[in-house]
Amino acid sequence: MNNQNLLSIGGNKKQNRNALVLLSSRELDKMRVVGKLAASLLDHLEPMVQPGVSTKDLDDEAARFMKANGAISATIGYAPPNHRPYPGHVCTSVNEVVCHGIPSLKQVLKEGDIINIDVTPILDGYHGDTSRTFFVGEVSDKAKKLVEVTRESMMRGIAEVKPGGKIGDIGAAIQEYAEGNGYSVVRDMVGHGVGRQFHTEPQVPHYGKRGTGLKLRKGMVFTIEPMLNEGSYDLKFLKDGWTVITKDGKLSAQFEHTVAVTDDGVEILTLP
Ligand code: MF3
Ligand code: CO
Ligand code: CO
Repeated sequence: MNNQNLLSIGGNKKQNRNALVLLSSRELDKMRVVGKLAASLLDHLEPMVQPGVSTKDLDDEAARFMKANGAISATIGYAPPNHRPYPGHVCTSVNEVVCHGIPSLKQVLKEGDIINIDVTPILDGYHGDTSRTFFVGEVSDKAKKLVEVTRESMMRGIAEVKPGGKIGDIGAAIQEYAEGNGYSVVRDMVGHGVGRQFHTEPQVPHYGKRGTGLKLRKGMVFTIEPMLNEGSYDLKFLKDGWTVITKDGKLSAQFEHTVAVTDDGVEILTLP
């Protein structure tokens, strides 16, 4: 989610739509169910990721899968302030696309591409938000390394989560690992609280300093979704109103899990 937008939605105190919430154990059960469904959707789409398949084909199959499982897509028609409604059931972000790529019949995957598929089904009122970056056929060692480092950076961020910890611990772990491997961490997009609402406080930057920021408490549920770039972290926003690409045109990768702060650590809610 774009950090400026979240701030502007968060400013709507009347409805307090985007306030931080702690989830009850009953609500966490619902998050487990939708989280598992979100992960299963990615598992389901993975074998379709082949040269010759369009990103619209992936979107159609995702729509079918969500419907068949009694879920709806949180992304289709999603329209935060200053945004036109997002037109896809999922986001498909190929190569230099950092996030929010729009599925299209005209975009056909080719050998060597990398594609992030970001899915957010809603089931029984709760959102499960997860993404992975997949390889299209054989990809270069350079692309493989970026993708693997991005996945590992997310896992290192997740490993920091525990009650009493700080939001800054997460970003610091991600940034250290990413930059240590020669990549930059996108600044303008952040992880976010998620539950009944798609995007709430807290914002979860993927860079930062240990010991700083909001204190983590049991019952908080948020995403960790680092975007790592091969070149600089500067972004460009396309005129379609959604697609975000790297300013220098170099590769970008992303992984995302929804996690919950537990009594003594963390639970990943978006595992299959
Ligand atoms: N799933 C994205 C996230 O991780 C948000 C996508 S919003 C959309 O926050 F409108 F672009 F689909
Ligand atoms: Co998210
Ligand atoms: Co997402």
